[in-house]
Amino acid sequence: MANAVKRIGVLTSGGDAPGMNAAIRAVVRSANYRGIECIGIRRGWNGLISGDIVRLEEHSVAHIISRGGTMLYTARSKEFRTEEGQRKAMATCKLLGLDGIVAIGGDGTFRGALALSSHGISVVGVPATIDNDISCTDYCIGYDTAANTAIECIDKLRDTMQAHERCSVVEVMGRNAGHLAMYVGLAIGATAVLVPEEKETFGLDSLVEKIRSARLNGFTHYMIVVAEGAGSAAEVGEYIRENLGLDPRVTVLGHIQRGGSPNARDRVTATQMGHHAVELLANGMTNRVVCTIADGEISDVDISTGLAMHKGINQQQVEALRAMTGL
Ligand code: F6P
Repeated sequence: MANAVKRIGVLTSGGDAPGMNAAIRAVVRSANYRGIECIGIRRGWNGLISGDIVRLEEHSVAHIISRGGTMLYTARSKEFRTEEGQRKAMATCKLLGLDGIVAIGGDGTFRGALALSSHGISVVGVPATIDNDISCTDYCIGYDTAANTAIECIDKLRDTMQAHERCSVVEVMGRNAGHLAMYVGLAIGATAVLVPEEKETFGLDSLVEKIRSARLNGFTHYMIVVAEGAGSAAEVGEYIRENLGLDPRVTVLGHIQRGGSPNARDRVTATQMGHHAVELLANGMTNRVVCTIADGEISDVDISTGLAMHKGINQQQVEALRAMTGL
């Protein structure tokens, strides 16, 4: 158990995700368990530049496991991308006597971690984003809760669409990736799903045919899920109006998908990942991203290797959706 690591920092950066608080709690409690002190860095990498810190004890993270958002606040730091910003951040690390940092967030967060490690501090990343678009991990904290929030909203939309025999076009988040839209589309029994990765099968061209086929099969309301990376729901709605003569109702779910209490999967994954991150630092490891592999087992990979990987859309989900939407 003995190790040279005495004090570590923890921060959240990028878009928040349900389960970030559970990950912070796990880092603090696991560090405590090993006799390592933990310092919270507020407002992402900006906080490391400006020295915006808070000491985190066991009681500081009590009752946050069920809360959405992040108690440490989050930000996307432009200054940290500069050499000068990284120099200032490194000075804060030295002043505080930090032996390592756990950075909770997405790809941008890990690029920041990599830059900092080149200045000589140990870093470990924990993947948390509702987009689930971090290539080296099967699962990112926040994804399942966000999907369930979207599903709850879309189920409600379906009730009114069914009553009025309308077409609903719903835009879900995901930045440039369609993982969330594909998952949500499968879960709500969508008439069609539009994702950026599979433009031919799941793009505008096949949309008209899918709605037409649904009508010929006796359906009188239609639920279309659009990944934000595949185009705006407003444009898709207009396309449907022009090509099918329907009068669609457009809904952009937006940031509601990022909020709310994390579900069981996100609380447990965040707890395991936060714990694993501390174990890595305590064992003298650096430049690692915690990840889940196919069977949900927690593992880790080198940050540079992880950032260079490519994550395509889940092909089994693609096949299932193809069968469900009939084209
Ligand atoms: O990466 C998470 C995410 O919610 C994306 O799905 C979305 O494109 C983006 O962040 C929105 O960012 P902001 O909160 O800055 O509007």
